[in-house]
Amino acid sequence: MNFKNELIKILADITQLDKNEILLEIPPENVGADFACPCFKFAKFLKKSPTLIANEIAEKFPNTNFISQIKIDGAYINFFLDKEIFAREVISQLLTKKENFLKSDIGHGKNIVLDYSSPNIAKPFHVGHLRSTIIGNALYNIFSCLGYNCIGINHLGDWGTQFGKLITAYKNWGNETNIKNNGINELMRLYVKFHDEAEKNPSLNDSARNWFVKMQNGDAEALNLWKWFNDISMKEFENVYNRLGIKFDYYTGESFYNDKMQAVVNELKEKNLLTESDGAMIVDLQDYKMPPCLILRRDGGTLYPTRDIAAAIYRKNTFDFDKCIYVTALDQKLHFEQWFKVIELMGYKWAKDLVHVTFGLVSLDSGKLSTRSGHVVLMEDLLNEAVAKTKKIIENKNPNLENKDEIADIVGIGAVIFNDLYNSRIKDVTFSWERMLNFDGETGPYVQYTYVRTCGILKKAGNFNNEIDYKILSDDLSMNIIRLINLFPEKILEAAEKLEPYIISRHVMAIAQAFNKFYHDNSILNAPVQIKNARLNLTLCVNLILKFGLKILGLKVSEVM
Ligand code: ARG
Repeated sequence: MNFKNELIKILADITQLDKNEILLEIPPENVGADFACPCFKFAKFLKKSPTLIANEIAEKFPNTNFISQIKIDGAYINFFLDKEIFAREVISQLLTKKENFLKSDIGHGKNIVLDYSSPNIAKPFHVGHLRSTIIGNALYNIFSCLGYNCIGINHLGDWGTQFGKLITAYKNWGNETNIKNNGINELMRLYVKFHDEAEKNPSLNDSARNWFVKMQNGDAEALNLWKWFNDISMKEFENVYNRLGIKFDYYTGESFYNDKMQAVVNELKEKNLLTESDGAMIVDLQDYKMPPCLILRRDGGTLYPTRDIAAAIYRKNTFDFDKCIYVTALDQKLHFEQWFKVIELMGYKWAKDLVHVTFGLVSLDSGKLSTRSGHVVLMEDLLNEAVAKTKKIIENKNPNLENKDEIADIVGIGAVIFNDLYNSRIKDVTFSWERMLNFDGETGPYVQYTYVRTCGILKKAGNFNNEIDYKILSDDLSMNIIRLINLFPEKILEAAEKLEPYIISRHVMAIAQAFNKFYHDNSILNAPVQIKNARLNLTLCVNLILKFGLKILGLKVSEVM
């Protein structure tokens, strides 16, 4: 039973209005009610003052067992749920449905394409891509919870002039053995070296351009080197993804669209959208107050926007998406606005279903981070540092713990993910180890530790049954937890609508905090048997909801710490 929907049904009945016109809010905590119905909106339909309407509704409200009290406050009607019935409903639902408690079928039959992470091959996989990876993965999980069929695509930057640079560098300063032995580190060294040397000797840029032209023309040597560099980079990326526990349905990078590009150029021509500018081909966007969208370079080469246009058309044809979501840093805002507009000008109605999800910058105390290349902070180094620091904390707190390495991995990486997802996307993220790894702060480790606490209690308790005297759970501290659990499915919906995973992280945090308050003020294992039983069931609920909630965000849990 969904209390909110039931209540809406009754209110629609009384007012004779459509269910969609009935708004129910969650009142502020000091009101103490479960739902509030503001009657301002009704005045327009019912031609009476909101206060009068509130009173009339309250008078006409039928006897329903799940509402224990109704209180008028001006134009608001506050509803109080019967605590016992409410507790029974929420707890029994969660304990029977388990993970399905958080799932719905709102998205049934609809496809959502998510384009995230998408690092550039042969360029370092740096912390800038970390946010796209973490946010994209969380959105994937959020939409999956709602029953959407999600398609996660890694739009690897695996084509472009950077490969010309790398081949030039390899030819000048590299060799096979070094690459075989050192993998991506050697590629990165060569890439950095190219830039240093090209500053002194600009003709290297011509050589790089030539190699890229060779790649585009199908030159075997160029393509073999390209493929080799790709394979090496991919191995490294997969390492990072495995550590983060992140999977993609497709690794279709930019090169995947090479043979789909000509059709796009032809179509743009046919639709009279292409104009020449300085030998290059562009789509003029002056009417929309944007710089032109570049389609073909002077040498005929395609560009980043060209490949995005081809990819979008391919994805629409292949996956018939309801939405195609792109997760990148804010600095690509214009790029997406431009080519979304081009898709619209091409006459595709689904242009409105393309969504750019942006996020703020990552800043960190780089002085405290070791960097391999000397230029950027690599994702792997960051994860290693998080794990090493966590291990130190664990060694201090619990020196006899088994599997310290595995647990440090779960907690350290969890701290990084949680820190990334704890604020609105657009806010910059700072890596402060002290704050992120604080077991008492608003952090991943705090929630994971609360989960461990519930595991400890449940383990000590041994067997208990689910015949619960729900009266025992009608105190404020228990009810707080139950209310928050009940709200979780709505929070998932809200997170999807706003494309904001922080709504989930904050809610998971609120539940962990509510449980710790409850735990602090109540004895569980030493309480009389009936009370003990009820509280153990509540503890089990928290245990489940924290695990499922963290999983949506991309965090793992450990039963001990
Ligand atoms: N490879 C790009 C970068 O690192 C991100 C790609 C985002 N996805 C897209 N379809 N453009 O900046």
